[in-house]
Amino acid sequence: MKNIVILISGRGSNMEAIVRACQSEGWPGRIAAVISNRPDAAGLGFAASHGIATAVVDHKGYPDRESFDAALAQAIDGFSPDLVVLAGFMRILTAGFVKHYERRMLNIHPSLLPCFPGLHTHEQALAVGVKVHGATVHFVTAELDHGPIVLQAAIEVRQSDTPDTLAARLLTQEHVIYPRAVRWFVEGRLSLDQGVVRVSPDVSQLVIGADAAEVA
Ligand code: GRF
Repeated sequence: MKNIVILISGRGSNMEAIVRACQSEGWPGRIAAVISNRPDAAGLGFAASHGIATAVVDHKGYPDRESFDAALAQAIDGFSPDLVVLAGFMRILTAGFVKHYERRMLNIHPSLLPCFPGLHTHEQALAVGVKVHGATVHFVTAELDHGPIVLQAAIEVRQSDTPDTLAARLLTQEHVIYPRAVRWFVEGRLSLDQGVVRVSPDVSQLVIGADAAEVA
C-alpha cells in the first residue's frame, strides 16, 4: 500500500475527488494524511469526517520559508509518504523542499502548461483570447508551475465565458484528471524518459471536456 499525503490550503475539492476515487476504486494506496497551512481550510473537515488524519502547519508561525518548509516536511514525513499531492496548496516551496520530494510530488495547475503559470490563469486565458484552456497535473520541480506533465484536460473557451464560468467548467475536469494521475502513480505506471512522463501501459494523457459548443 502506497502512502499518499495531500496538502491543501482551502476548499479542497481536488483532495475530495482523490479521496473518493481512492476509497471507491480500491487503489493500492491510502490517503495517509491531509495537511493544511491554514487552520481554517474547509477541506480539513471533509478529510476528518472520512477517517483521514489531518494536521495543520500554519505558515504564519514561522519567520521564513525555510523554517516553514522544514516543519512541513517533518509533518509530512511522519506519515511515511510515497507520494505528496499538492491540491490547491497556495505556498511557494523552497528548492530544498522540492528536492526532498523529487519524483514523488504532484501538483495540479489550472492552465495548459507551459501557458499561464502563476495566478489568475482564467483571466490570463481570456485576456489573450485562447480558444482552448485546461488544467495540468505535473511533477513538481523547483521552477514554479513547471515540471514533467503527467496528464492534461482541455476545455473550449466560449465567447460568453468569464473567469468564473471557465474556472467552474475546468474544475469538473480537474476532478477527473487528478485522481487518475494519482492512481497511475500509486499503481507504479509512471516513469520519466528524459524529462517526459510515460505511462505504462500506454493510455491517453489528455482528457477533452465534452462541452464543445454547437457550430452555427
Ligand atoms: C484548483 O483550481 C487547482 O487547479 C488550483 O487551485 C484550485 C484548488 O481548488 N491549484 P480545490 O481547493 O481543490 O477545490
